Amino acid sequence: MIDDIVVKIPATSANMGPGFDSLGIALDIWNEVRISKGTFSIKVSGKGENELPTDADNLVYKSFCQVFEKIGEPIPEVAFECVNQIPLTRGMGSSSAALLGGLMSGNALAGFPLSIPEILNIGAKIENHPDNVAPALLGGVQIGIYDQDELITASVTFPEDLKVVLYVPNQIMPTDQARNILGPKVARKEAVYNIGRAALLVQSLISGDLHNLKYATQDMLHQPQRQRQFFPMKNIIRAAMEAGALGAFLSGAGSSILAFTKDREYTIGYEMADAAMKSGLDGDIIFTCPTSKGAYLEN
Ligand code: HSE
Repeated sequence: MIDDIVVKIPATSANMGPGFDSLGIALDIWNEVRISKGTFSIKVSGKGENELPTDADNLVYKSFCQVFEKIGEPIPEVAFECVNQIPLTRGMGSSSAALLGGLMSGNALAGFPLSIPEILNIGAKIENHPDNVAPALLGGVQIGIYDQDELITASVTFPEDLKVVLYVPNQIMPTDQARNILGPKVARKEAVYNIGRAALLVQSLISGDLHNLKYATQDMLHQPQRQRQFFPMKNIIRAAMEAGALGAFLSGAGSSILAFTKDREYTIGYEMADAAMKSGLDGDIIFTCPTSKGAYLEN
């Protein structure tokens, strides 16, 4: 290995309201994974510093190893440096970013034996659902569905001036816990509610006509159940909508709430934080925008 390998991976917001396990959007907030020649070590700075494992249990490292296991080569010894901007366990795709950082740096070091679709498949298998991995790798808004074992993705265009406000609570929401509270069955009425809205969401984004986005970001399949564990959610979403958001929803499995806007981001952020505070919740506001760029290697 001659030079350092640097991978940048964006944050993502999965579900986007009605698109449970099927829709996700990449956000302009980035983690960096750098590998360089040297004794094995993992240094984490930014989000997760002093919190994430820095041994063989680290997700970046475990995914890096998967590349070499797949191609049947010994795992090279390298030093990892992770500079993280994506908050952990807040529904912003930190684990997808970590595993793609490992897969893409390993793939580059090995001379690119894996194609992008192969990386996508391995990543989505590790996560069990494609709605974070697909936008993190491919950028923009992605639809991801499985046909048997085959993962099919499609890009959805969106207006260039779309902005995002995130309320990121101090309260964490581990995805496995947030999934365990979902029942195994859904009623036909709820399925119909979400099918129409997911279709409307895609149409709204592609056409740029966002006046239906307030309906198109509603959900019956996971948010009502998660609301029972995360009581302030409803009030924060309502506050965002009343402040003029075009649409608002629980980001991934939570605990962050995402609002779309074109021009009212400061009012929306203030009102979301105020509603959270009134529910006894503390947190941060992040102003960002969607990115059509997915994970990439920096030269
Ligand atoms: N679709 C997943 C869920 C997202 O809602 O559980 C998790 O990142």
